[in-house]
Amino acid sequence: MADLIQLSIQDEIAVITLNNPPVNALSPGMAEGIAQAIHAANKEPSTRAIVLIGAGQTFIAGADIREFEKIVSGERPRLDLLPSLQVIEDSGKPVVAAIHGTALGGGLETALCGHYRVLAANAQVGQPEVKLGLIPGAGGTQRLPRLAGVAKALEMCVWGEPVKAAEAVALGVGDRVIEGDLLTGAIAFAHEIASRPVRKTRERNEKLQASPGLFDAAREQARKKGRGLIAPEAAIDAIEASITLPFEEGCRREAELFNKCLFSSQSKALIHAFFGERTVAKIPGITKATRTFEIHRAAIVGAGTMGGGIAMAYVNAGIPVLLKEASQEALDRGMNTIRNNYANTVAKGRLASTIAEQRLALLTPQLTYAGFEQADIIIEAVFESMSVKKQVFRELDGIAKPDCVLASNTSSLDIDEIAAAANRSEMVIGNHFFSPANVMRLLEVVRGKATAREVIATSMLLAKRLGKVAVLAANCRGFIGNRMIAPYLREAHFLVEEGASVEQVNQALYDFGMAMGPLAVDDLTGLDVSFAIRKEFEQLEKPGVRKPLVPDLLYQQGRLGQKTGRGWSKYDASRKPSPSEETAALIERTAAEAGIKRRALSSEEIVERCIYALVNEGARILEEGIALRAVDIDIIYLNGYGFPAWRGGPMFYADSVGLTQVAARLEEFRQTHGEDLWPRAPLLEHLTSHGQTFSSFDRTNEV
Ligand code: 3HC
Ligand code: NAI
Repeated sequence: MADLIQLSIQDEIAVITLNNPPVNALSPGMAEGIAQAIHAANKEPSTRAIVLIGAGQTFIAGADIREFEKIVSGERPRLDLLPSLQVIEDSGKPVVAAIHGTALGGGLETALCGHYRVLAANAQVGQPEVKLGLIPGAGGTQRLPRLAGVAKALEMCVWGEPVKAAEAVALGVGDRVIEGDLLTGAIAFAHEIASRPVRKTRERNEKLQASPGLFDAAREQARKKGRGLIAPEAAIDAIEASITLPFEEGCRREAELFNKCLFSSQSKALIHAFFGERTVAKIPGITKATRTFEIHRAAIVGAGTMGGGIAMAYVNAGIPVLLKEASQEALDRGMNTIRNNYANTVAKGRLASTIAEQRLALLTPQLTYAGFEQADIIIEAVFESMSVKKQVFRELDGIAKPDCVLASNTSSLDIDEIAAAANRSEMVIGNHFFSPANVMRLLEVVRGKATAREVIATSMLLAKRLGKVAVLAANCRGFIGNRMIAPYLREAHFLVEEGASVEQVNQALYDFGMAMGPLAVDDLTGLDVSFAIRKEFEQLEKPGVRKPLVPDLLYQQGRLGQKTGRGWSKYDASRKPSPSEETAALIERTAAEAGIKRRALSSEEIVERCIYALVNEGARILEEGIALRAVDIDIIYLNGYGFPAWRGGPMFYADSVGLTQVAARLEEFRQTHGEDLWPRAPLLEHLTSHGQTFSSFDRTNEV
């Protein structure tokens, strides 16, 4: 049993305490230890019942995810928690699982083997395995339907969202919510049920019914909502087995499906993303002891698309915001958009109107800097123009208190140049939100040369409060995300000029798994926006290097994308796209005039040109130290650019294709299209020649 599990006797109840910090994951030895403790408790004549409880912050957050890679590599045997957990269910004395924090995955499966479950009021239970590309693998797909009913079990296992304590009790997954001390309540509950006969979950078949069409509908939804993912459908198959097969056979089916998922590239990628999200928070030189500035009040300059969304993100986290605009008209427009956003969410039943009102009440629209002197952070979200931004930072320097964090939401401009406009570069940082800023999870935190580490630490911590995943980038044009997206979009533009149709390019990348095709993204952002960015950086372009021709022409013709109903595609009133003959003709004409030889292009080449353009730039970014680790780049692409999570991000994808193969293809592109467009990435060449991967490259020790 070792130190992981402690058995004590309190008031005639055996208390088994799980102690495997930080989250009591079912690491090797844990389930066996619980089984041994159950046997021991049953032999103890002075006890009437058993309480199973977690030490620390939580019950059990699941199987130990770190073990999965070892299982796949053959270093460890396949996971088989079932026999140990069944000892709980077979206990002669009733077992009460006492849940606080979370009972997730194998944690809930452990609790389901108990005869009763009591929950702290703020506890949550769920089967989130699907988010790791897996399905429950310790009987969850067989026991949960028996308690929650088939439809609810499907929802929980297919989408992975947890349910709160009160709902768990309403569903029959929990027996009671305990107010006050959980252990005291659980012991009292154990006395109440001690003399009742034990009820084994696996023998409770009364809820095992499915309405006609339930599984077909679930499969259809899984294919739509979980496009490309294999785990949701595997979860459906396993739950279907709970009603078509006896329990033991259902468990065998579950194990088969679990292993199929575990040995797939998808779960590898999704587990990479899970740990990646936690890794990006680790920054050399910044520890828990690093001082951070307390953020109680925020102020934002600019209430346009981004300023409005950022304001919502702040007030949603309970931080009051002063929102300044340049004109009454722009301010009214900005505030109307925010109010409409909240009204829509309320109308959809996703937010109580009282909460929406409370959030709006935290927002103060204004035309002056009044009150900015009290702000703990000021976020600039004005036009993407260096001169406008510098002017704002000069003004802020005269107003902000000395320890106020000054953040710019610039998507590509030089943070050091912006910072120089304020006489306190150490307080200036990039906080690059993604549109819509109240929804998108990514925050790219950009450190300038002089940015103080306390300011970086503050941004990383604040991001968590705002519900964001923050990734640190160093300063360069476009930072990590937009610097990489530039060659990706360029290739999409070249491909249509070389003979692919707009639809073919969009479809190929969509089929690869991207949330949208690249030209659809262009149309959504607006060709005026990309035109303005090209103008801002025009003087940096190397003369004589091929540039896409059609985007400027579309802009000049007012084909700005969705906002004008026409761009790369045509859009109807509901913004549904259809092929544009005019754009197709414009592309053909332009290519002919420029002497570009058009040819048939395969989907494979389209994907390789676009995705490898990301990878090549990513390798250069990594080598230059703009990103700390390859996984930082992956997390940016998964959370900000619609890269399919089940491919793990562009760098992980390149690793899984094999860097030798990627490098060879890049060399072909370089030979065909020139080194200016496909510059060498020495890091890639180094890794290839040493048989290494991007994931193995970690420069955090050197920084
Ligand atoms: N296995 C191993 N490590 C885990 C873990 C797990 N199941 N869950 C969390 N951790 C680690 C994290 O990696 C992190 O480590 P670090 O400090 O070294 O970075 C540490 O525990 C704390 O985690 P968080 O930073 O995420 O802490 P939070 O308090 O924000 O969140 C949590 C806690 C809600 C439990 C969250 O960690 C979580 O969602 N964990 C994963 C839960 C999950 O997916 N469970 C299913 C696992 S698969 C399974 O059970 C298969 C079974 O059916 C057989
Ligand atoms: P926008 O044009 O919608 O909004 C900018 C607003 O700033 C306008 O309403 C303007 O009136 C206001 N403004 C200008 N000068 C001002 C001043 N001195 N005081 C107060 N308000 C002032 O632009 P958007 O899209 O919101 O972009 C803002 C910034 O966010 C830019 O730097 C942009 O690059 C960046 N960004 C934009 C993204 C997007 O998808 N739109 C994504 C990420 C970053």
